[in-house]
Amino acid sequence: MCHGNSALEWNVAKDFPVEELLEQDKIPSVHIKFNLPVSCPEIPWSDLEDVLDRRTKKPKILGSGSFGIVKLMKHQSSGKLCAVKINKDDIEEPTVIENLQLEVGVLTRLKHLDCVPELFGVTIPGNNSQVPVMVQEFIGDPKTFRSTMLAIAIEAKVLPPLKAKRVALRICEALRDIHSAKLLHCDLKNDNIMLEPGFVRKDNPKVKIIDFGKAVKMDDKPRYQYNARDQMSWIMKCCSHLAPEVVRGEKPYNVSSEVYGLGVVLKDLSKHFRGFLWQLGEECTDADYRKRPSVEDVIHKIKSHLTSIQGAASQLAAP
Ligand SMILES: Nc1ncnc2c1ncn2[C@@H]1O[C@H](COP(=O)(O)OP(=O)(O)OP(=O)(O)O)[C@@H](O)[C@H]1O
Ligand SMILES: [Mg+2]
Repeated sequence: MCHGNSALEWNVAKDFPVEELLEQDKIPSVHIKFNLPVSCPEIPWSDLEDVLDRRTKKPKILGSGSFGIVKLMKHQSSGKLCAVKINKDDIEEPTVIENLQLEVGVLTRLKHLDCVPELFGVTIPGNNSQVPVMVQEFIGDPKTFRSTMLAIAIEAKVLPPLKAKRVALRICEALRDIHSAKLLHCDLKNDNIMLEPGFVRKDNPKVKIIDFGKAVKMDDKPRYQYNARDQMSWIMKCCSHLAPEVVRGEKPYNVSSEVYGLGVVLKDLSKHFRGFLWQLGEECTDADYRKRPSVEDVIHKIKSHLTSIQGAASQLAAP
C-alpha cells in the first residue's frame, strides 16, 4: 500500500530559528538533513547494544515484516530497553525516509499519550545505510523480554470474556485519544496493538497502539486508496481491517473507516465466545459507513455493559 502522504509537512515549525540553533550546535544536523521534528534526540549507535535472547543467546528480534526487523536493544546511558526498527537493505531510501518523517512526527505529536510507545530518538544503525531509524520504548516484560501482540493473545485464548471487554475498552479509549490529536491511525489491527506486561494477572490490562506508518492528519488533504478493480477483492480479503468503501476508493480514510477497523478487532477479541462484543463489532463493521457508531458511542456501550454485569455479579454475591 502506498503512503503518498505529506510527510514533509511534519517537520520543524515554520517560525523555528533553525539557522540560529544550528550555529549554536543545538540541532543535530540529522534533523535538518532528514526533516525530522527537532524535539527528537539523536542517539549514537555506539550507545545501543543488542539484547540477547535468554534461550538462543542470539540478538532478540521482536518482530519482522516486509520492511525488515524490529530488534530489542539496550540504551547503555539510560539502561532503558528499546525497540529499534532496522530496515532491509533493498528498501528504497526515499521510502524509508518518508516513513521515518511520518512516524517520528506522529509519535512526537502523541507523546502526551500513555497508549503509544515513547519515542526515545533516532539513530543511524551501524550498517551501510546512513539513514536514521526510530528508537522506541520496548513494550514488554523487562525481565523475560517477552512482548505480546493482541493477535497472539487472542490465538492463545488468554483473554476470557470479561478481560476481552476491558481490553476492548482500552483500545477504544486509545483510539479516541489519537483522534483527539487530529490523527487517524489508518492501520488499526491486532498486529498493531500490544498488551502491556501483566495483562493476564491484572484486572485492567493496558494496551499500546504501535505502527503509525500509515497515519494521516485529519486536517490534511483527504487520502484515498487507489486500487485496481481486479485487486479489490484480494485486498479486502488480506486486509480485512480496511473499510470496503476505502478499498473501493469511494471514500478517503476517515473516522468511520477507523471504526470499521475497530469493529474487526472487537470481533476478533470475541471470536471464541461471541456475545456482546461480537455484536458491537458487527455494528462497527456495518457495510454502510453512515450506520457505524462513533468511537464515543462504542466506549459508552462497553462501559454500560461492564457496569451492568458487575451489578449483576454483586447482586448474586449478596447474602
Ligand atoms: N515498541 C515495540 N515493543 C515491542 N515490540 C514491538 C515494538 N514495535 C514493534 N514491535 C514488534 O515488531 C512488529 C513489527 O513492527 P511494526 O508493526 O511497527 O512494523 P510493520 O510496519 O507493521 O511491519 P510490516 O511490514 O509487517 O507491516 C510488531 O508487530 C511487534 O511485534
Ligand atoms: Mg505492524
